[in-house]
Amino acid sequence: MNPRVYFLLSAMLFIFVASHAAYADGDPKRGAKVYGVCAACHSLEPVLNLTGPSLAGLWGKKAASVTDFVRYSSALKEQVFVWDETSLNAWLTEPNAFVPGTYMTFRGIDDKQVRGDLVAFLKIAMAPGGGATVVAQGFATEELARGQAPEPLANASPEEDELAPEDRHQCKRPAGRQTGADTWRHAGGQSVNRVFGSG
Ligand code: HEC
Repeated sequence: MNPRVYFLLSAMLFIFVASHAAYADGDPKRGAKVYGVCAACHSLEPVLNLTGPSLAGLWGKKAASVTDFVRYSSALKEQVFVWDETSLNAWLTEPNAFVPGTYMTFRGIDDKQVRGDLVAFLKIAMAPGGGATVVAQGFATEELARGQAPEPLANASPEEDELAPEDRHQCKRPAGRQTGADTWRHAGGQSVNRVFGSG
């Protein structure tokens, strides 16, 4: 066999085996779907703390080490372990059993495979620059990586569905008026028509 072809084939085999070893116990792509529940409280963007601390760059770091997150429980701050496969697996099984008194109000994930997938995703996502990596690899959307941070006010969508009927009535657009205090609450989106058209 041509030595160059032989070299190429063995290199490909090595990459195949190595990548499979890395993901042997979890599929990060499936894990990204599970991560949706975490994104309600966590961002993968550095410094962006939500209800929970940013998870950016936490892989291999000590628990409760995000210095600008000021709402850690003393229970988590006391811990000396670092975040890796073993600790994350235990944490995500039942946070309050692993660290009694934690402020993370999350029941836990019973299914071992689902946890394995999530941890495989977190291994990439919690590495330095991981938020950008998971987006670039197509595992996660930018929104998922960012987490549920409040939208800038200008993008806020109208919430007329939560208005009581009497409030809707007050929002009726007076004939001939295109702008005014009565319209700002419903600015943008087709819901404006629905609200104004109903009265
Ligand atoms: C309801 C909000 C909420 C949800 C949902 C949530 N977390 Fe948390 N998380 C927190 C809070 C609050 C803390 C800080 C806990 C403490 O101080 O005891 C935390 C802490 C953590 C930590 C430790 C961070 C550190 O600095 O050491 C990790 C890791 C973590 N969460 C991962 C996850 C993952 C993965 C999920 C999804 C399965 C998830 N969390 C879901 C709120 C949440």
